[in-house]
Amino acid sequence: MITMSSKSIHKLVLFFAISCLLLQEKCTEASVSLLCKDSERKALLEFKHSLQAMDSSGDDALSLWESTISPSLLKLHHLTSLNFNSNDFNGSLIPEFIGSLQKLKLLDLSNANFRGPIPSLLGNLSMLETLRLGGNGGDVTYHRNFKKMFSVGKLEWLSHLSRLKEVDLSFTNLSNANDWSQVISHLPLLQKLSLRHCDLPSISSSSLSLANSSTSLTYLDLSDNNLPSSAIYPWLFNVSSNLVSLNISSNKLKGPIPEAFGNMKAIQELYLNDNLLVLAENQVRGDSGLNEIGKLPDFRVLDLGYNLLNGSISKSIGQLSNLHVLRLAGNSFDGDVISEAHFSNFTNLEELDLSSTSLTLKFNTGRILPFHLSQIMLCSCKLGPRFPDWLRTQMDFKLVLEYLDISASGISDSLPYWFWDPFQRLRYLNMSFNQISGTFPNNSIHISHLDLSSNNFSGPLPHFSLDFSDVGTINLSKNKFNGSVSPICNITNEVSLALLDLSNNLFSGVVPDCFRSFRSLTALNLGDNSFSGSLPSSLGSLTSLEMLSLRGNKFSGELPLSLQNCTELKFLDLSDNELSGEIPLWLGQRLSSLVFLSLQRNQLRGRIPHQLCELKYLQILDLSVKKISDSIPPCLKNFNSMAKKVSLDRRIEHHLLDQPYVRSLIHVRYVDEALITWKGTKQNYPQLGLLLAIDLSCNKLTGEIPEELNSLQELVALNLSRNFFTGKILQKIGHLRQLEVLDLSRNKFSGNIPTSLSELTFLSILDLSYNELSGRIPTSTQLQSFDPSSFSHNRGLCGPPISPNCSMVEPPPRKPAVGGEEDSDEFMKWLYTGMGLGFAVGFWGFCSVVFFKRSWRHSYYRYMDNAKDWVYVTFVLLKARLVRRIKALSTR
Ligand SMILES: *[C@@H]1O[C@H](CO)[C@@H](O)[C@H](O)[C@H]1NC(C)=O
Ligand SMILES: *[C@@H]1O[C@H](CO)[C@@H](O)[C@H](O)[C@H]1NC(C)=O
Ligand SMILES: *[C@@H]1O[C@H](CO)[C@@H](O)[C@H](O)[C@H]1NC(C)=O
Ligand SMILES: *[C@@H]1O[C@H](CO)[C@@H](O)[C@H](O)[C@H]1NC(C)=O
Ligand SMILES: *[C@@H]1O[C@H](CO)[C@@H](O)[C@H](O)[C@H]1NC(C)=O
Ligand SMILES: *[C@@H]1O[C@H](CO)[C@@H](O)[C@H](O)[C@H]1NC(C)=O
Ligand SMILES: *[C@@H]1O[C@H](CO)[C@@H](O)[C@H](O)[C@H]1NC(C)=O
Ligand SMILES: *[C@@H]1O[C@H](CO)[C@@H](O)[C@H](O)[C@H]1NC(C)=O
Ligand SMILES: *[C@@H]1O[C@H](CO)[C@@H](O)[C@H](O)[C@H]1NC(C)=O
Repeated sequence: MITMSSKSIHKLVLFFAISCLLLQEKCTEASVSLLCKDSERKALLEFKHSLQAMDSSGDDALSLWESTISPSLLKLHHLTSLNFNSNDFNGSLIPEFIGSLQKLKLLDLSNANFRGPIPSLLGNLSMLETLRLGGNGGDVTYHRNFKKMFSVGKLEWLSHLSRLKEVDLSFTNLSNANDWSQVISHLPLLQKLSLRHCDLPSISSSSLSLANSSTSLTYLDLSDNNLPSSAIYPWLFNVSSNLVSLNISSNKLKGPIPEAFGNMKAIQELYLNDNLLVLAENQVRGDSGLNEIGKLPDFRVLDLGYNLLNGSISKSIGQLSNLHVLRLAGNSFDGDVISEAHFSNFTNLEELDLSSTSLTLKFNTGRILPFHLSQIMLCSCKLGPRFPDWLRTQMDFKLVLEYLDISASGISDSLPYWFWDPFQRLRYLNMSFNQISGTFPNNSIHISHLDLSSNNFSGPLPHFSLDFSDVGTINLSKNKFNGSVSPICNITNEVSLALLDLSNNLFSGVVPDCFRSFRSLTALNLGDNSFSGSLPSSLGSLTSLEMLSLRGNKFSGELPLSLQNCTELKFLDLSDNELSGEIPLWLGQRLSSLVFLSLQRNQLRGRIPHQLCELKYLQILDLSVKKISDSIPPCLKNFNSMAKKVSLDRRIEHHLLDQPYVRSLIHVRYVDEALITWKGTKQNYPQLGLLLAIDLSCNKLTGEIPEELNSLQELVALNLSRNFFTGKILQKIGHLRQLEVLDLSRNKFSGNIPTSLSELTFLSILDLSYNELSGRIPTSTQLQSFDPSSFSHNRGLCGPPISPNCSMVEPPPRKPAVGGEEDSDEFMKWLYTGMGLGFAVGFWGFCSVVFFKRSWRHSYYRYMDNAKDWVYVTFVLLKARLVRRIKALSTR
């Protein structure tokens, strides 16, 4: 047996579970799978050396594989088990010689970054019982965005492996394998089959009638394949008689839940989430369907989340008396009320997910609830206005509450005094978007993920201690916490803190210089408080930092040089402070990952350093600082990012996933709020993403606009107003095809308005007022539809919309174009219609889980494709380990 568990074959120490090698001569019964002949031991040693050589030389994996590994492996005639799971073969082909290891019973090449196709010679491994090839050919770390799936072709070769008990081909491209159901049906001993995310073709009825059904299947995962009901039900219900666990989530199952599920006598776990299922009339009444399922004695998991179920939940659901996990999230049971009557039989319930269902939960606290939950997900249910007292009953010695999400649930009450005591082992707590008030106890709160944002909490910063085994996230934004933040220096295990958001509170004083040990911090938001003093230089120790917002405070002094160390920064918002000095050159040279940079409204002076042009990923540049002088450096054209179409690949997402293959993850979604200023009005847009924008307004800039700006073809907003620019407006401004906002007002631009301006078909906000422009306003329906004030106060503009023709003089402006309510209204209108913010907010809702639901993600992507000009800045801190400890805990 050969097992290698190392992340990279090049880097990590190899772990051999080759007992006879490691235990010298001690060939125990347990390792008879490998006979310790001298020759074989020699081969193993050779093999080990070759791997070590690879490790130190860092040579090309493929060539080493061919030149050294294969010959030594081939000498191991009796090899029965080969496991390269989670190694990195750098996209090489699965070597054909594996087909000669005729005695193999186990072959595990999953998550090993192999490339397809699978050599059909694997069909020679007639002794094979376990075959795992899943998770190759893509960025499996995040299980998303598979650009190039490992393509497999037909599966005919598989049908020769009649001893197979387990097959895992998840995340491979089986779109051409239309023989898959037939092949599978020919494997008489097959018990476990995973074909998740395989682009499976539908089963045609002709192949179905030929099929011999495999009835040995106990575990079947066909999730995430976009299969329609018609394509899968007939086959499924034929092979399901022994199924214990069935995952057909994230497909396109439509219509009522078939009663045939009720015939799956052995079924214990049923995942039907993320489909288009509805409840039939009789199912709503509780006559059938769910009822049928309800008769199955051993039913443990029912996941119907994210379907189209509506109506009301029948009390008969309560017959599922052995249910451990119930998930109905993301359906719209409008206004339905769940009471303890529904749940009276749920003595084994451990996980309840009713997120985004609009269900009202009314548990009579006088009655003792029959269950002790370890995971409660009730985001956007109706629990308030009083704090749900029944939670108090959820403390237990055997099964502790680990996960509690009662965000956006209409609670407006103070946090009860009993709250923290019972929940000492809580790992995830989300109470955001309520109106919960109260202060915190003096003793420290032991938690890994805490989101209290958008509430009315007050008092000093609570003390935290984080779990050593986990990455922590703390979000206290939009509350009324006050006082000093120096207690952050006392967070125990700051090493693992990934997100700290204290923004929009009443904190004040100096930020302590104690960030040295916050090595994992990815996002730090201290914005919109009353901090003062200089920026702590220990911020420079945050070498993983990707997001730093300090906006809206009273920070003063120069930017600390140490900030150069934060080379991973993508989002840097220092706006609205009192920072002084010049714009540092290193900003462009060292922080080369920046996507968002705002220095708006500070005391910075000097020129725009040409080094800034090196920020080739920049999508928003806001240098509307006040005192910046000199001219625009022509190298601004280097902002490659603004010349490229916004696409999915360009959204910012930050993952923090140190254990990529852990199955169950806590998802912490953190969406940054980009701040956009329009004519002096600060607008705070929740969940607004990025546009491609340059704002250099309100400075002392001079000279002409460099022609090079024309190359930023995808720019959406350009604001150069309130400077001392001279010369003509760019003749080829029409090249900026995506431009929606153009403000050049209050400068000294002269000459004609270039005719190419009329080519900007998306332009929805234009302000050229207070310049020295003259001549005819170019004609296009677009330009003539703007308010005359957009052109007012110039030297001699004429023609519509300001005058009927050019023989007439420019009339006085209707209203002065001095930033104000109307302008920001106009801006808002643009914002909402331009990118559908309203839709976006409603769409996202508050429940973080939504983001990770595949189908929702897909609609989101589709939406993104349409809204080309926008990118969300999304910080997603994914971190492992809400390891399903249910079992572990309950067997304790
Ligand atoms: C991995 O493959 C890429 C291209 O296929 C190659 O450029 C790179 O050097 C390889 N890396 C290693 C460590 O072999
Ligand atoms: C695979 O099996 C076929 C016959 O079944 C044989 O001809 C061929 O040599 C085998 N290939 C290898 C690589 O062992
Ligand atoms: C799967 O393979 C087919 C044919 O080889 C190809 O057309 C398709 O684009 C692939 N799909 C993915 C997601 O890679
Ligand atoms: C079904 O199985 C039987 C016996 O296992 C076999 O004789 C028959 O050929 C199979 N039918 C098909 C269509 O594969
Ligand atoms: C079921 O499939 C979905 C989608 O592929 C996956 O996210 C989920 O983890 C699976 N559930 C189980 C219990 O395997
Ligand atoms: C099994 O397949 C046959 C042939 O397609 C079909 O007639 C029958 O209804 C299926 N059985 C079940 C339980 O669905
Ligand atoms: C609880 O279980 C009993 C026995 O199975 C059943 O008679 C009763 O209807 C169930 N209660 C609910 C609310 O479903
Ligand atoms: C926090 O640390 C400071 C010293 O760094 C100490 O004086 C203070 O007592 C600590 N507070 C708590 C609550 O541990
Ligand atoms: C910046 O990084 C260097 C090298 O990693 C380190 O030696 C130095 O202490 C860091 N500076 C600060 C202020 O953390």
